[in-house]
Amino acid sequence: MKRLAEARAALASARGVVILTGAGVSAESGVPTFRDSSEGLWSRYRPEELATPQAFRRDPRLVWEWYDHRRRAISRCEPNPGHRAIARFLVERPDAVLVTQNVDGLHHRALEMETAMLTGERDGSPEGTPGMDHAAARILTLHGDIMRVRCQGCSYTQIDRSPVDTSSADSLPRCPECDDLLRPAVVWFGEMLPEQALTRAFESAQDAEICVVAGTSAVVHPAASVPTATLSGGGDLIEVNPVETPLTPRARWRFPERSGELLPRLFEV
Ligand code: OAD
Repeated sequence: MKRLAEARAALASARGVVILTGAGVSAESGVPTFRDSSEGLWSRYRPEELATPQAFRRDPRLVWEWYDHRRRAISRCEPNPGHRAIARFLVERPDAVLVTQNVDGLHHRALEMETAMLTGERDGSPEGTPGMDHAAARILTLHGDIMRVRCQGCSYTQIDRSPVDTSSADSLPRCPECDDLLRPAVVWFGEMLPEQALTRAFESAQDAEICVVAGTSAVVHPAASVPTATLSGGGDLIEVNPVETPLTPRARWRFPERSGELLPRLFEV
């Protein structure tokens, strides 16, 4: 395919590559996306109705029920070939930065898998793999981590993968330090994104010659503006999404395919 060869050549010669991912890259792992309807029980709620501090104040049990449902689904999922291809690219290309809106941890897990594999391939010597040590530091998670909880009243926060008892408001998890309600440590609508990660994401995008946008509807800002920074810095966009998005008209290369199939071919090094 000529267009794929062109996009690959552009990636190979680019100085600075930013990859922006959304829920679609985890779809083939079995993690439900937010805006592709379906999801039975939860299809009648929009993310904007559940993922807000107001929704949590109004009905913490309902919000926890939704997050618990997603946490259980995610804990059964494995990284797919799209995550693996991105992870390998990050290791091979020290000038690549991944900006993700996903809270499922699958990019990090894929990197661990690639690292283990590459270490084995290179006689067990991690030093032999350029960029490996720094690859994890080049994953910028803009919307938090669904397996982490934090207190809504104090600064307590902790990774906690255990299922949440949502049978009543009284059974919801509470802070061991101040007894206030614990909530998922994800960024909700109306909340600030982590400042450092956001600044780095925009600086990297501005400097990058290519931005690859995969599996996002590109409607939730500021994350959806990251590719615009690459464009305004004079770079090009590659979009991977079976469906058109607001970014599609601005993409130099567009692949209307599933990321688990396309990304391994795009990032083949
Ligand atoms: P969305 O659910 O809005 O969009 C998922 C996108 O992935 C859609 O454009 C699909 O067409 C595309 N897609 C589905 N399957 C795909 C596949 N196999 N390969 C490639 N693309 C595929 O998810 P996001 O854009 O990530 O925020 O949503 C952005 C934010 O809205 C989320 O981070 C979350 C949500 O509310 C918060 O929770 C703050």
